[in-house]
Amino acid sequence: MDNRPIGIFDSGIGGLTIAKELHRVLPNESMLYFGDTAHLPYGDKSPETIVGYSLAITEFLLKHNCKAILIACNSASSTSFDAVVAHVPKNVPVFNVIDPLIDYISQRFHAEKVGVIGTRATIGSHVFLNRTREADPSIILVEKSTGLLASMIEEGFHNNEISQAVIQAYLEDSRFEGIKALVPACTHYPLISNEIADYFKNQVEVVDAPSIIVQQVKKALEANDQLSDAENPALHFMVSDLTPSFQKSAAIFFGEKVKLEERRLSY
Ligand code: DGL
Repeated sequence: MDNRPIGIFDSGIGGLTIAKELHRVLPNESMLYFGDTAHLPYGDKSPETIVGYSLAITEFLLKHNCKAILIACNSASSTSFDAVVAHVPKNVPVFNVIDPLIDYISQRFHAEKVGVIGTRATIGSHVFLNRTREADPSIILVEKSTGLLASMIEEGFHNNEISQAVIQAYLEDSRFEGIKALVPACTHYPLISNEIADYFKNQVEVVDAPSIIVQQVKKALEANDQLSDAENPALHFMVSDLTPSFQKSAAIFFGEKVKLEERRLSY
């Protein structure tokens, strides 16, 4: 049993979609969420820059006594996971939001075609392509960078005509013809999963990333005997730049009202 908080970080507030699922599945866990809103978006930054931010935030989470680190950002997971693992003490598990999805695809889509969409940083790292090829070379993986979607969602455009038109413009791509599943590899995309499924007339599985990711975290914490039994777990949500607009969107991503606190880190 370990009642210390799980440290979760993202470039902004999109990672709250993962935090929301974590809180639903593991309601006794305390969480310390850090959204690097001063530096978002990560998706357009170089790997070196994202690694620098990720290490500074990891250090902050360790100082706050976190028992585990969950990198709840695909752009940071694809560029910084190894650096974060190397940075933390051996007894602090580090989770990313990509490995569970690669395991999921590899186990279910043998000899099938699967699409992946995400930011430029995630798609440019080719982590999905390379790792899926290693796990099962029979899977045909089609990657596409869909840079506008995260900011579109953050601006409040989802489940309306504008978001449908943008989604269609990205997915109307002959390379996606015949896919069995689409992996929404960006923390913001759970908010448009239904629209993506509708675009494919519900003939393509839109992978439920938050659920798959959180189940792996749960399993690992269970195996390490690190789950919490706190009756009143503490939930803290911090951002590096607090604006009314982030405060408002946070509630949409977390599914309930959250109080954001500002913490400026020196990096
Ligand atoms: N959180 C980022 C991700 O999952 C999307 C937003 C950004 O580019 O910072 O890739």
